[in-house]
Amino acid sequence: QRQPLFDALEQLADKEWQAAPLLAACPLADHKALTPKSAPKSAPAVVPAPTLQAVLSPQDTQQVVGQVQMASEAQAELAITCARAAFTDWRDTPVEQRAQMIERLADLLEDHRAELISLCTREAGKLLQDGIDEVREAVDFCRYYANQARRLMTTTLLPGYTGERNTLQTQGRGVFVCISPWNFPLAIFLGQISAALVTGNTVIAKPAEQSCLIAHLATQLAHQAGIPPAVLQLLPGSGATVGQALTSDPRIAGVCFTGSTTTAHHINLTLAQRTLAEHSLAAQNAAIIPLIAETGGQNAMIVDSTALPEQVVRDVVRAAFQSAGQRCSALRVLYLQTDIAERVLALLSGAMAELSIGDPALWSTDVGPVIDAQAQAKLTEHLNQMQAAGNTVLAQTSLPDHAQSGHYIPPTALTINSIKELNEEHFGPILHVVRFKAAELEQVIDDINASGFGLTLGIHSRNESFAEHIAQRANVGNIYINRDQIGAMVGVQPFGGQGLSGTGPKAGGPHYLARFITEKTITNNT
Ligand code: NAD
Ligand code: ALA
Repeated sequence: QRQPLFDALEQLADKEWQAAPLLAACPLADHKALTPKSAPKSAPAVVPAPTLQAVLSPQDTQQVVGQVQMASEAQAELAITCARAAFTDWRDTPVEQRAQMIERLADLLEDHRAELISLCTREAGKLLQDGIDEVREAVDFCRYYANQARRLMTTTLLPGYTGERNTLQTQGRGVFVCISPWNFPLAIFLGQISAALVTGNTVIAKPAEQSCLIAHLATQLAHQAGIPPAVLQLLPGSGATVGQALTSDPRIAGVCFTGSTTTAHHINLTLAQRTLAEHSLAAQNAAIIPLIAETGGQNAMIVDSTALPEQVVRDVVRAAFQSAGQRCSALRVLYLQTDIAERVLALLSGAMAELSIGDPALWSTDVGPVIDAQAQAKLTEHLNQMQAAGNTVLAQTSLPDHAQSGHYIPPTALTINSIKELNEEHFGPILHVVRFKAAELEQVIDDINASGFGLTLGIHSRNESFAEHIAQRANVGNIYINRDQIGAMVGVQPFGGQGLSGTGPKAGGPHYLARFITEKTITNNT
């Protein structure tokens, strides 16, 4: 099946794409006004001119991938009005009908996989294999949540006194705001949306600024699958304006967010402030609503002296450098027991020298670009600071000349003494290496736990009780023993972290949908 896919990708290589808000037409009953919030009440309605943004490819900033018309705060307000108007009908649509629409979306994703993969590589700089996996994961989310909803959203008959009929019902909550990151521009974007829709919520999706073209195509496919335009609306726009306008509105019923821990903290505060504004009627009506936040990690791997060095190196290279290290699950801190450290590092250095850096659309490329100039500058600054502080670079892949045309960071392994030296997530192909002695193991686990993050952890050991001991002690959401720690599969490795890494429930797991619904018990003394 590869050749037809490659032919289709080649035909799409120069296509220019467009994205714009996908808003429904709806009654304006509780719509305030299409004016900026600060405008005096007497001012005439002003609809600001749409902001057009050119999308340049992260691997070649001369390459225009398309144009995005960014949404405004006024459009965010209008979208909420429409989504509220559409809610009751959607909530009361039988779950079977909603599930079938989501499954139809999965079929459409498969039919359009060439366009989606092409956009993943050209707009988000993802490797071809990452793009293929991304479509697969989006399809899996749709099918998994459709089936979970069928199971979850049935009325349950409960025991009770004679003559009393007790039932437990589930239903959607209202308007869900889904805010997604650029690093899984399709899978996470649609994972959030499909979960919220199939459980009977109407959705306003705000994708990351860097991946609006993919989000636009995915939303169009969802509409083609039968999801009404008012039930799913798309607002490509900035987090600080549109994201803020959506999350501060008292009319929303839930937020599903994936992104950085800092942004999650900000949204948490915004949600609380909605309910606190003094003397505001809106505040009085602001319900306490769920925030599902899946955030960043400071992911470690612990390797003891019984591990197989070749296997360790294969898994470290994949976990630290695939997707240019731009996965929340990616390995950041490699703990090597001193007895095995030099052997592993020699092999690692050899493996890193062989990595091919370049165009993510080429099958032969191992590491593509980072997402944008800002990410490149931040990672470069971190590398410079680490070296200025005396940390040794153990291995670094050289960048080819053509990498100058895009946002590339050389895959780098450098020493640190402990995870405690890292104050934040460094979201790129940078691996920090710590050597530890057998007697220091408990301290290593304490330090990992003390980071406050708890997303993924790798363990390499042939000693089962050693691996099991670490797995039990570590406060981490996803633990992988004797393999790499990226690429969780829907329904197989439900994914999500603890502490600073997220609220749960785990995406692609059996408890995820429960957070999108509200329950109703009816006791009828007939
Ligand atoms: P980000 O936090 O910068 O942005 C995420 C989304 O939040 C974007 O859509 C952005 O526009 C929006 N946003 C920003 N400010 C906002 C505000 N004030 N109000 C509302 N929305 C706002 O993250 P990113 O750079 O897009 O993504 C990378 C981050 O995501 C990394 O930290 C990574 O670890 C994390 N991530 C976590 C998971 C997971 O499952 N745990 C998966 C993927 C990515
Ligand atoms: N679910 C993604 C992974 O496991 C983030 O890599």
